[in-house]
Amino acid sequence: MNFEDLRAILQYVPQFRGATFVIALDGSVIESPDFSNILLDLAVLRSLNIDVVLVHGAASQIRSLGEKRGISLSNCDGTGVTDEATLEVSMDAISRLSHSIMQSLTTVKIRAASTNAIRARPAGIIGGVDNLFSGTIDQVDGAMLRSFLDQNILPVVQPLGFDADGRTLRVNSDKVAREVGIALKASKIIFVSLSNPQETTHFACRQWSAEQASALLESSAADKLPAGLLSKIKEAIRATRDGVLRVHLIGVARNDALLAELFSNEGVGLMVYADAYHEVRPATKADADEIYSLIRRAVEDEQLLERPRSDIISQIEDYIVLAIDGNVVGCVAIHFYAEQKLAELACLFVKKGHNGMGYGGILVEAARQRASELQVDWLFALSTQAAGYLQKEGFQKEDDLSLLPPNRLEKWRKNNRNAVLLVCREHIEKETVQ
Ligand SMILES: CC(C)(COP(=O)(O)OP(=O)(O)OC[C@H]1O[C@@H](n2cnc3c(N)ncnc32)[C@H](O)[C@@H]1OP(=O)(O)O)[C@@H](O)C(=O)NCCC(=O)NCCS
Repeated sequence: MNFEDLRAILQYVPQFRGATFVIALDGSVIESPDFSNILLDLAVLRSLNIDVVLVHGAASQIRSLGEKRGISLSNCDGTGVTDEATLEVSMDAISRLSHSIMQSLTTVKIRAASTNAIRARPAGIIGGVDNLFSGTIDQVDGAMLRSFLDQNILPVVQPLGFDADGRTLRVNSDKVAREVGIALKASKIIFVSLSNPQETTHFACRQWSAEQASALLESSAADKLPAGLLSKIKEAIRATRDGVLRVHLIGVARNDALLAELFSNEGVGLMVYADAYHEVRPATKADADEIYSLIRRAVEDEQLLERPRSDIISQIEDYIVLAIDGNVVGCVAIHFYAEQKLAELACLFVKKGHNGMGYGGILVEAARQRASELQVDWLFALSTQAAGYLQKEGFQKEDDLSLLPPNRLEKWRKNNRNAVLLVCREHIEKETVQ
């Protein structure tokens, strides 16, 4: 690791301090050799003063134990009918699994407690079929979980619920994670599966608002999703609508999956988020380095004109940044030519991994707004590779380069990039001077 990576990680530490994360592991993750990485990562999160609750599934262990005992199971994941024999096998498999989790947590010196935090009632008859010992979650004992967290004890929540008479019901672990997240007002729920959902789905977009994720589930793309992933996306939508800020879906196979998802802007898995969590604001001197490193790749690819760090610093008041979780992921500059009453939109950039989410459009709109405030006649841009994009955003190609301010035309000639001139005359509302 280099120091720049370390710096990138440390920027998240203050915002995560004191936050609550629910980490939901599929049963298959716990028996995988990569589980040891998750354990180490849990220890890291706790050392950063993040409150962690562990929720686990057990479908894989239930299936194996059923096979070993020669029992035909009515359901393994707690979503359909759980008959008496299946409940018996489920309770045995889950007890063994909980014990093994406790052993593993002990090896990384994490104090933990298995809990009976889930109050449930029989799911009843669904679609004409009695679900028998499958449960619907009624309530989560958030106060109990919180008191463990306050004592630095990691609560472990099984995929079992108890009704008012103490009867045991099988509940689905994805739903448990959702309800625990909501009850604790968690900042994040992180679902960890064996395979990386991003690699399974190849979705171009990896971060969806709850609304976008719902639209995805209503589209034909949902038919191709594996059942486990579909269930997690559904629970993610419900959790984010009920107050959880973000739900992440990652695979365990990458040995740094958990930390890479949490401590990098792009992440490595999929994410559903509660709201538009971006902020558009004028840049300050403190943003100059971030802007400089942000646009470096685009400069190398000749998408943007090279500008020295010193230029960015001296013109920092021209820049607007778009930040997510406090980290700059996009920028635009508006250079004012007072004499000609013109403004140039320049240095428009959105970081890879955040493309296609409308952030470019938001920055163009912010530039237009700034141009209006500057009372310019029109806004122009010089682009080598994004002319089509700017046309989509309301700019028009202009062949007459003599419209440019003389010093800008001189620069255009010198830099030999042959950038296309685009102008935006509309949507620039001049503010009336009182
Ligand atoms: C151009 C850029 C700012 C767009 O940002 P973004 O946040 O991804 O854009 P939005 O989400 O607002 O819009 C996405 C749409 O624009 C299209 N688009 C993105 N870049 C494009 C380009 N260079 N040319 C044409 N269309 C483009 C996408 O295909 C997508 O189309 P769709 O809505 O039909 O799916 C970003 O791709 C970028 O930083 N590019 C490199 C730097 C650059 O070229 N800057 C422009 C200098 S003038």
